[in-house]
Amino acid sequence: MTIAKKIEVKITASSWIRRMFEEGAELKKKFGPENVYDFSLGNPNLPPPAKFKQVLQELIRSESPAAHAYMPNTGYPDVCGAVAGFLAKEQGAPVEGTDVIMTCGAAGALNIALKAILDPGDEVLTPAPCFVEYGFYADNHGGVLKTVASRPDFQLDLSSLAAAITAKTKVVLINSPNNPTGAVYSAESLKALGELLETKSREMNRTLYLISDEPYRKVVYDGVTVPSIFAAYRESLIGTSYSKDLSIPGERIGFVAVNPAATHRKALLGGMALANRILGFVNAPALMQRAVARLQGEQADIGAYKRKRDLLCDGLAAMGYEFVKPAGTFYLFPRSPIPDDVEFVQALKAERVLVVPGSGFHGPGHFRIAFCVDDAVIKNAMPGFERAIRKYRG
Ligand SMILES: Cc1ncc(COP(=O)(O)O)c(C=O)c1O
Repeated sequence: MTIAKKIEVKITASSWIRRMFEEGAELKKKFGPENVYDFSLGNPNLPPPAKFKQVLQELIRSESPAAHAYMPNTGYPDVCGAVAGFLAKEQGAPVEGTDVIMTCGAAGALNIALKAILDPGDEVLTPAPCFVEYGFYADNHGGVLKTVASRPDFQLDLSSLAAAITAKTKVVLINSPNNPTGAVYSAESLKALGELLETKSREMNRTLYLISDEPYRKVVYDGVTVPSIFAAYRESLIGTSYSKDLSIPGERIGFVAVNPAATHRKALLGGMALANRILGFVNAPALMQRAVARLQGEQADIGAYKRKRDLLCDGLAAMGYEFVKPAGTFYLFPRSPIPDDVEFVQALKAERVLVVPGSGFHGPGHFRIAFCVDDAVIKNAMPGFERAIRKYRG
């Protein structure tokens, strides 16, 4: 044994997306990349908005001597202020710069929040299907992830959530718009969730936190808006990033914000500032902080994802695939035509169509298609999708 047992086990458990990626690389070598239809990764394929490059050039031209130095762990105060100004309008809450900590992406945001909140053995409840990394993030900080099935339309199942809250529960972690389902939770359900957490906190005489993971907030279609989490529940935090809306996931820039009305606001912010440093992030990337401060409200051409969604949904619906049309994100989560989603994913792979089994997201019986790909990939994959469903449905 040369590495930690726990990590060895996790490498195996987390292997679905990685396995599809590796198998895809093999297929691409064999058949040529244009003949493999790879929907396995949620890597935005749109360029960042033109203003991104312009802002970077301006920043480099006007650089001060300390531009690359260490800074407060929470980020540049003026950047936190710019983020808070935008967030205050979006959330309808008096968010200030001191309520915001700049982070290395949404992943960094969620990790510092969980580090600051969890004691060993505390449970993090999340609706399933869910982003597979949540289990690792909870475990990173001694917590345990518990999943609670969503309704068949992928909306929150409040009675199941209520039943799953125990004396060990510390955090409810939600993600809307959701990876992998594309669902956007309604304002009514968030309000009801807030009421539930308030009642349970009172009954148990301790604070239950709601963390809202929102990197897809601006990736929504057909006029859908994502309701304010701060309006829904007082003891709430938002973890998010510019990875998807500005199409810059490799730049690792995001933030965490605490509800200004939260009871333990100061302690949470102090704990997360320390966690940002001691988890090894130290602070979020300096140049990117300065860039996003000037890019509030900007986004990549999200309309292109809507076109891709419609192309995919129309094509698959005509073949008999069943799914809930995503209101946001660039993921579609159809029902597998056979109960064994892994077998169906293999059938698609035989057609050189690469997707990820729902089992990899605590959502068996489904599969995930990441449609952040060229339109041509979607069009050229259609015959393969058709042959795969015909194999089982005649
Ligand atoms: C639901 C969800 N949360 C968090 C993340 C992590 O985002 P980031 O790359 O900004 O850290 C992702 C990335 O795909 C995601 O899908």
